[in-house]
Amino acid sequence: MLDISAYPAAHKVSLAAVPSDADYQRLYRQSIDDPHTFWSEQAQAALNWSRPWKQINAFDSATGHTLWFMGAQLNVSHNCIDRHLDLRGEHTAIIWESDDPEESLRISYRQLHRYVCRLANALKARGIGKGDRVCIYLPMVPEALYAMLACSRIGAVHTVVFNESSAEALRDRLLDADCHTLITADESVAAGKHHPLKLQADQALLECPAVKTVLVVERTGGRIDWVAGRDYWFHEVLRLAPEDCPAEPMNAEDPLFILYTSGSTGKPKGVVHSTGGYLLQTAMTFKTVFDYHEDEVFWCTADIGWITGQSYIVYGPLANGATTLIYEGIPDYPNAERYWQIVDRHQVNILYTAPTILRSLMREGPRFLQESARTSLRILGSVGEPIDPEAWEWYFNAVGLQRCPIIDTWWQTETGAIMLSPSVSSQQLKPGCAMQPFYGVQPVLLDDDGEEIHGPGAGALVIKGSWPSQLRALHGDTEGMTTRYFQPHPGYYFTGDGARRDADGDWWLTGRIDDVITLSSQRLGAAEIESALLLHPNIAEAAVVGYPDPDKGQGIYAFVTPMNGVSADEDLHQELLTLVSTQIGRFARPAWLQFAPALPKTRSGKIMRRLLRKIASNDLGSLGDISTLADPEVVQALIEARLNT
Ligand code: WT7
Repeated sequence: MLDISAYPAAHKVSLAAVPSDADYQRLYRQSIDDPHTFWSEQAQAALNWSRPWKQINAFDSATGHTLWFMGAQLNVSHNCIDRHLDLRGEHTAIIWESDDPEESLRISYRQLHRYVCRLANALKARGIGKGDRVCIYLPMVPEALYAMLACSRIGAVHTVVFNESSAEALRDRLLDADCHTLITADESVAAGKHHPLKLQADQALLECPAVKTVLVVERTGGRIDWVAGRDYWFHEVLRLAPEDCPAEPMNAEDPLFILYTSGSTGKPKGVVHSTGGYLLQTAMTFKTVFDYHEDEVFWCTADIGWITGQSYIVYGPLANGATTLIYEGIPDYPNAERYWQIVDRHQVNILYTAPTILRSLMREGPRFLQESARTSLRILGSVGEPIDPEAWEWYFNAVGLQRCPIIDTWWQTETGAIMLSPSVSSQQLKPGCAMQPFYGVQPVLLDDDGEEIHGPGAGALVIKGSWPSQLRALHGDTEGMTTRYFQPHPGYYFTGDGARRDADGDWWLTGRIDDVITLSSQRLGAAEIESALLLHPNIAEAAVVGYPDPDKGQGIYAFVTPMNGVSADEDLHQELLTLVSTQIGRFARPAWLQFAPALPKTRSGKIMRRLLRKIASNDLGSLGDISTLADPEVVQALIEARLNT
């Protein structure tokens, strides 16, 4: 344990909004013992509701179905914009830092209001309204936030697709969510280079005839194809639209957005989030976990294509009237100093980033920290994967100059908002420990037999009961949420993560225990990559596993069995990598691809992933029990091939 009171500078960090440890304990107890009083008070304090609720929550632990703030109405864009106008209309809502270090932009709440109202009217004029799905395929530009907020203003449901996703991945999501509208850009920009976004979108749209309207943000002015009657310039429809657009009252349980995420089986699924419960928990966690003070600058380095971006670039900060910074580019362009230049230039107070980024910047060496002061920083957040002690120490000592607590937050796309985190008021930080549950969250450890572990121990992390920002469904799959999350351990929500609880009752995350790979703090399903590989006509079987990687956390290792008589050569190797790029995106390409004459299977025909993980990790000492293997020689062949790589 690290006692930060031992660092003299640590006390210079001012903490105001954060509850003391005793307050936290009291409020946490209340949230569990008397949820009615707790959530009534919190929901009234945090948000504006246009109609009150009749009941706080109804939850069925067998199916996972949950309803929060039943009967209540509110509008998300009203809560994120309009209600701040009187108090802080001229305050900056969004700071945009371009890929080009010379260019940035500030957008006030009043300007944001204008843009969002105009866009909302433009969408309405094209027949888009309550419940309609709108796909957003944009880089990190302010228009992405306008688009999300305009949808929420009129009750349309957005689905943001990560802009590095391939045309095929975009097509799958457009079809699955049945979108009739797409908002994209001519090109995206990263490290000074232009990438053809509209071209990808056009390709995807060839197979999506239902999409009738495409709004195109002019980011670079690069040459693009144009389909008259379908494609419109974003700035033109905005210019022509009226500015007065009342916010549509929405039911607390109306869907706010769908976000696709990988699971351990099949294609990515659309996680559906609600209006009331989701906004409440993102707003509350933003304020308490990061101890946000008025006028501070908050920078979450995630992309809006991921849940971290949705909850802590857009909804959590704006619901609190905060200044949220968005950065278009990559961490090391023009060099590894860029993040710290941004921190100084915009006087960032709270930084929320991922261990993979910290590790990559740390490896570039200390000289990239020399030109910046970073004295505006007060709180340093981490998310996406367990933060290793080396990265933790560097973040705390070198980046934060021993002044800023490290807030390691554990949560998931499905949980919508932060679930476990240390308190910034705590003087006792444990490097790599996610510490304590947020109000209302009841984490539980289960042993191998599915029995609850009390006191210290390690096992599967599950959650008892519901929480406001819980996922409501998997889009288009009535049983999906139940089978995936509530059936593995009846009565609990299954996280897919392993965890340990120490003698102080603090929580440590130990990584996924299902077939989900965490690569560069991003989540990828093994099944998704396997399906892409199997599209190749010369491939009979494929199994993908993660292995430890010092930079990325985990790397992707693919074992591939070609059809009989096919030569496993360099061409085939390249074709397979290209398939993964076109089906999912370049980021999902396996770092290692090993041709295997066969895959190890149990006698019942199940691929022994546990063994493949060991081989991929070069952990060949203890292969464990292989007595159930159908053909032990297969393993020997794989090991030999691995040793030769
Ligand atoms: C998975 C969720 C919502 C956060 C961004 C990723 C891993 C996330 C931590 C952390 C250890 C973490 C888990 C989780 N994870 N944060 N602080 N410590 N592991 O969201 O893509 O839905 O992935 O990321 O394995 O299950 P996601």
